[in-house]
Amino acid sequence: MTAMTPDQLTQQVISAYAGAPEPRLRELLAALIRHLHAFAVETQLTPQEWMAGIEFLTATGQKCDAERQEFILLSDVLGLSSLVDLVNAADGATESTVLGPFYVPGAPVREMGEQIGRPEDGEATLIRGHVTDRDGKPLNGATLDIWQSASNGLYDTQDPQQPPFNLRGVFVTGPDGAYEFRTVRPVSYPIPTDGPVGGLLASAGRHQWRAAHVHAIVSAPGHRSVTTHIFDADNPYLDSDTVFGVKDSLVRQFRPAGPHDPADVSYVADMDFVLAGQQ
Ligand code: BEZ
Ligand code: FE
Repeated sequence: MTAMTPDQLTQQVISAYAGAPEPRLRELLAALIRHLHAFAVETQLTPQEWMAGIEFLTATGQKCDAERQEFILLSDVLGLSSLVDLVNAADGATESTVLGPFYVPGAPVREMGEQIGRPEDGEATLIRGHVTDRDGKPLNGATLDIWQSASNGLYDTQDPQQPPFNLRGVFVTGPDGAYEFRTVRPVSYPIPTDGPVGGLLASAGRHQWRAAHVHAIVSAPGHRSVTTHIFDADNPYLDSDTVFGVKDSLVRQFRPAGPHDPADVSYVADMDFVLAGQQ
């Protein structure tokens, strides 16, 4: 009798799942088994390393609760979240990037131009632009759901000193598709490192900093929503964002306000959003 080869075992496992009645599940399972097995063969994974992996994933699950999703953080620092975004991108639309763990639905709808933070949250900044379709037609009734951290690097949900929904707001465009809001200039901040993902970054010699950004979910009736960021062009972490979220097309200059800008802001950034139609 000849010994079983790794390839025979892989085929045997794939065949065992080949009867899954749902075709997409069948496809996903076959590819998952193929890639997992290829990983173990390529690295000649030892039983100790396999167990270390199991323990790491167990600790990742144990770190999760209603407020903390360590598995998404793991997906983020491995670039998987960004890869899923890329694979699902709509041509010609604003590029998307990671949602992150700090989005809170139900932010208040605010007046166009309103300041979403407090004076102590950072340097007053105006962000403005238009929401259009891929032909450049302004989108009426588009919503921009905006959130960001204060200059201490903390979101309202992490910082008892900030009132609920501080630095969050929803803005709705009129027929010209224009929007503007006041906020503070975003800063770099560290992702949570008190769990297994923090240990992974430390073991890999990677830093935990996100490039400074403002989050936006931009939606309009009949169009595909885009979950994205506006990045500050002057930030030192653009090339090494810990979650691989930076895309060149999302980087904007936060320029010092000039004589033609509103007197109550120190910086101005222009950002247009383009939405694809629903398929
Ligand atoms: C964020 O930008 O809020 C974020 C994204 C991924 C991981 C951690 C934070
Ligand atoms: Fe963020």
